[in-house]
This record gives sequence, structure tokens and C-alpha cells, in this order.
Amino acid sequence: MPRVPVRIELRREHSRLRPSDGPWVRRRAVSKQWGPPDPSALACVTDHRGTPLAWGLYSPESDIVVRLLCFGAAPPPEDWLERRIAAALRGRAALGLGVSPGRAEPGAAPGEPTKGPMTTGVRMINTEGDGLPGLVADRYRDDWVLQITTAAMAARQAELTSCLKEHVHGRFFVLHPPAAAEREGFAAAPLALSGPDGAPLAEPEPLEFLEHGLRFRVPAPPSQKTGAYFDQRDNRRIIAELAASHGGPLLDLGCHVGGFAIHAARAGVDAVGLDQSAPVLALARANAELNQVSERTSWVRGDLFGPLDDPALDRVFGTIVVDPPKIATSRRDLGRAIKAMRACVRRVSERLAPDGALALCSCSHHLGREHLDEMLPRGLGLGWTRILSLGPGPDHPVQLGHGEGEYLRVNVYQRR
Ligand SMILES: C[S@@+](CC[C@H](N)C(=O)[O-])C[C@H]1O[C@@H](n2cnc3c(N)ncnc32)[C@H](O)[C@@H]1O
Repeated sequence: MPRVPVRIELRREHSRLRPSDGPWVRRRAVSKQWGPPDPSALACVTDHRGTPLAWGLYSPESDIVVRLLCFGAAPPPEDWLERRIAAALRGRAALGLGVSPGRAEPGAAPGEPTKGPMTTGVRMINTEGDGLPGLVADRYRDDWVLQITTAAMAARQAELTSCLKEHVHGRFFVLHPPAAAEREGFAAAPLALSGPDGAPLAEPEPLEFLEHGLRFRVPAPPSQKTGAYFDQRDNRRIIAELAASHGGPLLDLGCHVGGFAIHAARAGVDAVGLDQSAPVLALARANAELNQVSERTSWVRGDLFGPLDDPALDRVFGTIVVDPPKIATSRRDLGRAIKAMRACVRRVSERLAPDGALALCSCSHHLGREHLDEMLPRGLGLGWTRILSLGPGPDHPVQLGHGEGEYLRVNVYQRR
């Protein structure tokens, strides 16, 4: 039974709703609303005279009251969720991503695919970029991890699980990040863990995936995001190639389960990874072993914003990657975040070889490329040039006009 839509009337000054303004309607733009505070209802957004302009998902308690699904007076078709999920999956297949892994050769180690794609860790659904606000779905070979971050998607969990079930041949994890649940006012359910037969899982094996032919394992249930950072997949390969061309060792700050370091080691250079989390470093070490690059890699537990005084870091590196967590959640955090990053960059740039490459990463929407440029030390006789401006891979599409969907920036500089 379709729910009665909620009607949201915009203030006169916000009544020119244009696709180029993005898909979010914030509370300050709303003058009146009619209907129960029910996130499973669709919202019809009207101008100040009551003329329908657009339709979207309704989050009654959030500052983002509506996330638009379509413009115009007509509501989206009843099966919009199913259609959009199908379109997202078709889109990945057309990119050569997210297709079923091949069968293992007889005698291959358990879980080791030897035929089929070289990448089996893929973002299959990327929120607004796939027209599915509040929903992320990452595929780890046969296992899927869903992340639900809005009240409207949480209200549709049963429906979307049923749409996805036929595509999932392994385990199925559903995450409700507590901060999102609080902001959106939905009850964060405990992690739902089930096996292929729907039976509960006690001690799950790590999630495993291939990335450009390398094997990685990340914790299950996931401890950071959905488990891995697929957005940096292609950047890990590009920077490993740069590191191999230079020939000097690579320093991977904020290494998580070893991505940049292991790619570089496979490309033939020594690599040191640093992270503050002991469990992810244990997996980084295990991943190096899985890929037979243990001899080329070393791992340090430490604070990337700290003095970096571990003896393993006291050398000259040909390539340095600084990939911190999200350090500016709002514009207000910018000053502090830039200051912390600048101090880190100053420390590491003293250890960068001439002609070496420094990759500065930001996964904070508010910390843009121009801010990364500002972090480089100047006036010390060092010259820098920006040689690459990278972003997330093609499985992280961004909806046109949705500036907030732009978050990952990786600027690569060469020291001259
Ligand atoms: C964005 S992730 C890095 C992703 C990783 N480079 C990759 O390619 O998969 C940020 C990492 O920084 C780590 N981290 C957070 N705060 C840190 C700190 N102060 N010092 C060192 N590592 C930190 C987190 O544990 C996480 O692994």
C-alpha cells in the first residue's frame, strides 16, 4: 500500500529549485509541511504557492529534510528503488567492475580466485551518485556490506535487502553508523550478520577481495567504513608506479590494511606503513604475507600527526603518501585541520628525496585541493610542483550538482 506523501512547502526565497543546486533540501528552506513524520513516506516538494517542483526521500528529524529523487510534478515510479539498484549494478558491470569472480583453479588456496576479474572489491552503490541517497553497498568478492545513513533508507531496509538478495552469494552485513543514526533520528540496530543461508554468524572470517590482482583482507564485521577504502584503489596503483619509477622507498602514513605500501612493494620498492590502529596493522602485516611482499614491507604503530620519531622512519623516501582520516567534518574545523596537516607535511617533506613524490589525500569535503596546496612548506628553498590531481575511481559516481558528494582529493606533488 503506497503511503500518503508528505508535502513540503519551500520559502519564497528558496522556491527556485534547480538540479544544479544539488539534491538536498535543508530545513532552513522549508516554510511549512503537511503529513506525519514518517520517513517511509515520499515527500512532494512545492514552491511557496504550492506548485509541485520535485519528489524525494523524507527525513523528518534531519537538517536535510528531503533528498530529491526526481524533478517535476510526477512522483517517481512505485518501483524506483528496485530500478535504481538495478541501474547501479548494470553501471558497474559496464565498467567491468562487480562482475562475478571466476572459479578457483583446482589446487588453489581457499578463497583464491585464479580466473575472472583482478578486482573483486567494488562499491556497487554510492548514495546520491546512484540516485540512492543514504545507501552504500560495497562488495567484497561474494560478501556484501551495506551502510545505511538516513532515516528514509533505514525505513526501506527490508525492501532494499529483498532487492539485493539475489545478487549476494556470500555474507550480508548491514551497518547503521551510530553518528548518522543519531543525526537522522533512526534506531541504530545492532550489526546484522548473516551467512548465505540467512543463519547468524558468530565469529566471522575477514572480508577478502582482490585489487588489481593483489589480495587483501579487512576486518569483518567492519571496523572502519564498510571495511576497506575502495575509493583509493586506482590511486594505489598509480602511486606505486610512480614509486617504482623513482626507485626510493615509499612511506604510507595512515596505511590502514597496507594498500599503498603493498602495491608499492609489489612494484619493486621497499615500503613502510604507519597507522595508529593495532588491529589494522596486524592485517597489513598479514596482507603483505598473503602477497609475498613481507620482506619489502615494515609496519609502524604511531600517530601521523606526532613527531614521527620511530627509527624505521628515519630515512629518505622516494614517495610519501599522507592519507589521514576525515579531519574536517565542517567548515569550522578547517583552520585546525590545515594546521595539523601542515605540521605533518613539514616533518615528512624533510625526508623526501629530491624529485620524490608527495601524495596528500583529503577525504573531508571541506578540505579541498587548494587547501592541500597550502600545506606545502614554502620559503625553505623547496620547490614543489603539482603533478597529478586524483579522485575516487569510477565506482564512486557523483550526482551532478551535488558538491557534498565530492570528498576524496589526492594531490601529488613533486619536489624540485
Ligand atoms: C582514510 S584511512 C587510510 C586508507 C588507506 N590509506 C588505504 O589506502 O586504504 C585513514 C587511516 O588513518 C588511520 N589513522 C587515524 N588517525 C590516525 C593518526 N592520528 N595517526 C595514524 N593513523 C591514523 C586510521 O586507522 C585509518 O587506517
